[in-house]
Amino acid sequence: MIVAFVLLLVVIGSVGFHLISPWWWTPIASNWGYIDDTINLTFWITGFVFVAVLTFMAYCVFRFRHTKGHKAHYEPESAKLEIWLSVLTSLGVIAMLTPGLFVWYQFITVPDGADEFEVLGQQWMWSYRYPGKDGRLGKTDPRNVTADNPFGIDTADPAGQDDVLVQGEDLHLPLDRPVKFLLRSLDVLHDFYVPQFRAKMDMIPGMITYFWITPTRTGTFDILCAELCGVGHHAMRGIVVVEEESAYKDWLAQQPTFAQSLAKANAGTRRVSTLNAGGSVR
Ligand code: CUA
Repeated sequence: MIVAFVLLLVVIGSVGFHLISPWWWTPIASNWGYIDDTINLTFWITGFVFVAVLTFMAYCVFRFRHTKGHKAHYEPESAKLEIWLSVLTSLGVIAMLTPGLFVWYQFITVPDGADEFEVLGQQWMWSYRYPGKDGRLGKTDPRNVTADNPFGIDTADPAGQDDVLVQGEDLHLPLDRPVKFLLRSLDVLHDFYVPQFRAKMDMIPGMITYFWITPTRTGTFDILCAELCGVGHHAMRGIVVVEEESAYKDWLAQQPTFAQSLAKANAGTRRVSTLNAGGSVR
């Protein structure tokens, strides 16, 4: 009797907690409402099964409790019941998986005319690269990476010279424009995640992965690394600012291009070598 009561209490408590839980998604800031829909669908199906199974258990515990003189009826199998359970389970699993396939297809099908930019992950920071005036990102190779060229841009590729580099700064994105995130890692697995965008993707050394979103409201959101990547994993945080297109363009215009940052690095090297030369004369 008490067991049946506890089982019912677990059902009521779980459903009640789900309904009034203070821990719920942050308000969405992208076009991926579908992601929330599929999660909600999964909640409904698994929730229904959870309630049904526990209520049935409570009923059985109560209804078939021990009474003197009663003997259990032995029924090792029931083909009819097994078919029913198999069919219902299959339907439930299909209902949970099928919408995901459609949403996934949209998630990786980038609309024509989407802007492109690159996110570079490394232990333990985020950097970003936007195509310059030519609208194209220059070729890269991890073997080109040096202190002066942290993105590993191919210096021989003219498309790379005007690439805009953002390091140690927030990521900015324009409102209401579809944008394709190209994701690259310099060292180990990372995972680029902005909860409000309902989008995340692993970053794999040697590969360029991607997804796309359209930011649907302005604001400042946290960027998290969602793949354990070493002792600094927890500190691999960033900020993304979604703003009106004009503010975004002003910000972008202030960031250095690859050619500018190379020239600055070279000027620094020259100054150092001049100093060294001066030192050796004395
Ligand atoms: Cu990068 Cu965890």
